[in-house]
Amino acid sequence: MTVLVLGGAGYIGSHAVDRLIEKGYDVAVVDNLITGHRAAVNPKARFYQGDVRDQDFLNNVFDQEDIEGVMHFAAFSIVPESMEKPLKYFDNNTAGMVSLLEVMNKHHVKRIVFSSTAATYGEPKQIPIKETDPQIPTNPYGESKLMMEKIMRWSDKAYGIKFVALRYFNVAGAKPDGSIGEDHHPETHLVPIILQVAAGERKELSIFGDDYPTKDGTNVRDYVQVVDLADAHILALEYLKAGHDSDAFNLGSSTGFSNKEMLEAARKVTGKEIPAKMAPRRAGDPSTLIAASDKARKVLNWQPQYDNVEDIIRTAWNWKQSHPEGYADRGANA
Ligand code: UFG
Repeated sequence: MTVLVLGGAGYIGSHAVDRLIEKGYDVAVVDNLITGHRAAVNPKARFYQGDVRDQDFLNNVFDQEDIEGVMHFAAFSIVPESMEKPLKYFDNNTAGMVSLLEVMNKHHVKRIVFSSTAATYGEPKQIPIKETDPQIPTNPYGESKLMMEKIMRWSDKAYGIKFVALRYFNVAGAKPDGSIGEDHHPETHLVPIILQVAAGERKELSIFGDDYPTKDGTNVRDYVQVVDLADAHILALEYLKAGHDSDAFNLGSSTGFSNKEMLEAARKVTGKEIPAKMAPRRAGDPSTLIAASDKARKVLNWQPQYDNVEDIIRTAWNWKQSHPEGYADRGANA
């Protein structure tokens, strides 16, 4: 039996594929390579290039593979871009989910582990955020993912397709050996941008807003290491295979770091000065996002290995130093 990983050439998907293979699973990958990198996919996985919205293509993959479960990472995920291009997000992310579930149903594949996000909660009413808290997104990216969660809920009722929605907080880092990592074009995420400055590729970091109601005025986020995150997907798949019901889990460290603290941590790890300036707030940013992640620890038995941001940043720095240009195929897909 095979695990099908959609979006397996992306940042998080490629780490999940790698961990699945390390743990002895048979893996097939689907990716349209719009933001993913062929070189990020572990060579032991079978690779199909195509789009989840293309049902002929997807039916063909499901015909060829004997699929025990699906991990779905294929989505656009840039919050500021979603504010400017909401329909791009509803089309690719939300409509992509409808297409996938139709094909899964047709082929009697009844398990899906899904990349959801803290962005489904919007501006939280309380910190830490619990899975049962209201989900009121403040940007189209979060809305597109919330809709995907709801679509899965109704598809469970109607077709018995069981799901685990994993609501990630801020993912960072890379495989510790530096062989795979984060490579977005353009890069918008805090940690890789800080490291681009450290590497001399950018002049300075712009910190978006220092007038938030937080400890130092800058946004507070909860960072989780990408390999720990990948492992949670495997636990979620096994949870569904054991016959448990559909559910949602937060994945975070339960500790918040401000943007200024992240900058300080990166200065320590890299030994570089990393110039920074204050800049206006970025549209759609909630002030503080910290997960209550005890449910995943208790129910899925998730035991993240990384519990401090310096170690997480160190893995990202290792990738950055060994791959200053990212993946070699950047030109083809940028
Ligand atoms: N930031 C800066 N300067 C930059 C880039 C980012 O100050 O150049 C700040 C942002 O304003 C924010 C923080 O760094 O306060 C983190 O920003 P990221 O873009 O790295 O991450 P987000 O918190 O916006 O979003 C990430 C994922 C989403 C997910 C969300 C959930 O990209 O998919 O975490 O917390 F929904």
